Amino acid sequence: MESPLVVLKHATKSFVDGKETHRVLNDLDFSLLPGASIALTGASGSGKSTLLNIIAGFEPLTSGALLLSGRNTATWKDPQWSRFRYQQLGVVFQQFNLLTPLNVKQNIAFPLNLNQQPWNDWCDHLVGALGISQLLSRHVSSLSGGQQQRVAIARALAHQPQLLLADEPTGNLDQKAGLEVMQLLTEIANQGNTAIILVTHSLECADFMQARCHLQNGHLFTAPLNHESQHESY
Ligand SMILES: Nc1ncnc2c1ncn2[C@@H]1O[C@H](COP(=O)(O)OP(=O)(O)OP(=O)(O)O)[C@@H](O)[C@H]1O
Ligand SMILES: [Mg+2]
Repeated sequence: MESPLVVLKHATKSFVDGKETHRVLNDLDFSLLPGASIALTGASGSGKSTLLNIIAGFEPLTSGALLLSGRNTATWKDPQWSRFRYQQLGVVFQQFNLLTPLNVKQNIAFPLNLNQQPWNDWCDHLVGALGISQLLSRHVSSLSGGQQQRVAIARALAHQPQLLLADEPTGNLDQKAGLEVMQLLTEIANQGNTAIILVTHSLECADFMQARCHLQNGHLFTAPLNHESQHESY
């Protein structure tokens, strides 16, 4: 059987705020196979971004284990995390985190540079499909929110990662552009067998994924996709 790309076992995450400890994830189990896609939904503050930050290694777990491609990350230090991120991971951050001194092309090429790869046909395809080919020489700080979001998506996929973590990647787009981006994201992921964890508040966007998990009170619940619940009777 294929081994999972991501496994969380009894994962707990607490933040200490003054004298109070705030438990965001509580004894959570999760696994994602290569090429699989899930939508992660949940109320604001339920811990969706925290969960992505843990999988990307930006936040440590308070207790429990995170395995990536079967390897326990408990002993990983900066070099292992860096290698995993630049070789295997693409992240679309909720706040984009584009590199503002750089232009669009330099931002998108950033993960390629880390892998010592040149700009290639795949990048041309990506920027064409995202409708940002005309913006390559612009400074990212001069772009609209929706344009920046598309640059962030291109940057996350430029090196064809095995895992894409996307935190509300359509949050700054109108509904039509949002659905187009979702269509593209899933096509691109299918082409490269990229697994996706997509944080979204939109059930329409969630519907592009193969499954949905809902985060509530620190626990993950399997939830129906929009199209699966359409025929439920109440
Ligand atoms: N670095 C941090 N220090 C302290 N508390 C934090 C930190 N990061 C997140 N939290 C807390 O953890 C909880 C979950 O935050 P998180 O950003 O993961 O929520 P979210 O589900 O992504 O919400 P949204 O939909 O608004 O983006 C919140 O109560 C938040 O205040
Ligand atoms: Mg968030």
